[in-house]
Amino acid sequence: MQTSVYRLAVLSDIHIDLENGGKNTYFIHAERNLRRALEVIRAYDCSLLISAGDQVTNATGAEEEWRRYRQILTESGYTGQVLEAMGNHESRYAQYGGCTIEDCRREFVRFTRLAEKPVLRPKGAGDGTAYYAYLDDHFGDAFLFLALENGCNTNQIDNFSDEQMDWAEELLARYTREGRRIFLIQHAPLYGDGVGDNRGEPAYEGSIRLSDAKGRVFKNNRRFHRLTRQYPEMIRLSGHTHVDLRDKVNYRRDGCHRLHIPSLAGSTRLTKRDGKPTLDRTFYGDAAQGYLAEVEEARVIFRGIDFLHRRFYPEFTYTIERKQNHLY
Ligand SMILES: [Fe+2]
Ligand SMILES: [Fe+2]
Repeated sequence: MQTSVYRLAVLSDIHIDLENGGKNTYFIHAERNLRRALEVIRAYDCSLLISAGDQVTNATGAEEEWRRYRQILTESGYTGQVLEAMGNHESRYAQYGGCTIEDCRREFVRFTRLAEKPVLRPKGAGDGTAYYAYLDDHFGDAFLFLALENGCNTNQIDNFSDEQMDWAEELLARYTREGRRIFLIQHAPLYGDGVGDNRGEPAYEGSIRLSDAKGRVFKNNRRFHRLTRQYPEMIRLSGHTHVDLRDKVNYRRDGCHRLHIPSLAGSTRLTKRDGKPTLDRTFYGDAAQGYLAEVEEARVIFRGIDFLHRRFYPEFTYTIERKQNHLY
């Protein structure tokens, strides 16, 4: 029998939400669910917690949301590492003119305490500006965190800079040569890619596009897409659609291993309206979903869990075998 090398917790879309100082809070279970998840994660003895983006909601500014996020982490007593990806909500207020995208990126770096973490940032980027980063070695594994750096409307823009894609391509090539296990964490899935949404007829319009309705090509979104096809052994984690584990759009193997992470704040269900697939946007309060994973030398076992009721979902367990001596 194989023994676990380490235990990993994976969350997404925590969505601490204090719209208008809490008068218009939409994700009403966000703080409760984060507290409950951290109790379980602590008891399960995870050495690393990954959050795949949208830690805050940021409809009217995120500073107090970030403070609450930090406070809940601190009060939980969890002492393992915590690493976050920058989602689209992290820069939402900039879209409404309340601040600039640069302000939001700086806020992300400040409140995730990125500069104090054992992560590495791109060469030449100052501590305050490198909002994408990587953990080079956690028991030999490598974790790359890509940022949705260019704004909130994920489906209407090229989401990555040239610099970020150059950086990611170089790192992935190097880790692959070294035969390392790679986790790539980037908040949003590609439209129609079949994780976090239907493959044939997607229900959610907000995923990453390769071009817009006018045929304008999103060059760096395409580079990102290529990476997910180029490295078949890579484990790619995304959230963003909030879709519930029970809708069974959680894992696909074509290209790299791709795993969808539901929203901890409250998941939404796939449904149909006027015959068309859509999300019901009910943000169910009856579960707080995510994954706990056992990482072994030769495989990773992701176990879907409802943190609210402390129940694993045995039917949503995904085992990713590692190819030995693989040459990609
Ligand atoms: Fe979200
Ligand atoms: Fe999102």
